[in-house]
Amino acid sequence: VSVSLIGAGPGDPGLFTMRGAELLGRAEVVIYDRLIGHELLDLAPPGAELINVGKSPGTSRPQAEINAQLVEHGRAGRRVVRLKGGDPFVFGRGGEEAEALRNAGVDYEVVPGVSSAFAAPAAAGIPVTHRGMATSVTVVTGHVGDQSAPGGVDWYSLGRAGGTLVILMGMSERARIASELIGSGRDAGTPVAVVHWGTTPHQQVVRSTLGGLASVELPAPSAIVVGPVAALDLGPAPASGGAGSS
Ligand SMILES: C[S@@+](CC[C@H](N)C(=O)[O-])C[C@H]1O[C@@H](n2cnc3c(N)ncnc32)[C@H](O)[C@@H]1O
Repeated sequence: VSVSLIGAGPGDPGLFTMRGAELLGRAEVVIYDRLIGHELLDLAPPGAELINVGKSPGTSRPQAEINAQLVEHGRAGRRVVRLKGGDPFVFGRGGEEAEALRNAGVDYEVVPGVSSAFAAPAAAGIPVTHRGMATSVTVVTGHVGDQSAPGGVDWYSLGRAGGTLVILMGMSERARIASELIGSGRDAGTPVAVVHWGTTPHQQVVRSTLGGLASVELPAPSAIVVGPVAALDLGPAPASGGAGSS
């Protein structure tokens, strides 16, 4: 296999898979996104060619150019690692890259990663499903241009469906998302948690409600969790040794 589409996980290098590390350790070319931690890039051999393809608004290379690069290096028979944040097939456009490679007849494999959709809530102590509270979880993008276009998000149905919503790339549209969900019948008091850079030393968590989401100020990358579980905090117990501990 010449091209490996590898999920880098949510940010903590300890959450990278062993399979990913093994392939990265013998890569000749590494094509990576902006948010990939440098600890992971250090796993590549010293002579490997490291190519940053951005993936930040305004500066990112067009997807077609990334696809063409993968095909070109793959055809040349080089051991190519395409390192993508989280899981490559969850809002990562990994599917398009796999299609491009398949259409070009280049061998590839997909190595799943721990998605921020589940890891960021977990790092904030939030189980996305919980007995008696949530029997389903829906992962949705908050970043779609034209809501009426095919593939746009039907917030009204999502709001009515209940269960936990995890919204990625939703911070710039949070006011509109909150009002659509409230308009569909979700209570304005529904708990909400916003997790910024979950699993990393930069992690910040802000708890609010659907009615208060518009005034939560955290930059990307952040995941928005909506539903009763967002009020839970089942993170590690406080260290023992304080007053009252045994
Ligand atoms: C283009 S999507 C890629 C998602 C990725 N493929 C995954 O499975 O995690 C990028 C969005 O994922 C979310 N995200 C990625 N890493 C995150 C983290 N460590 N904590 C919170 N949200 C994160 C943010 O919503 C960010 O805008």
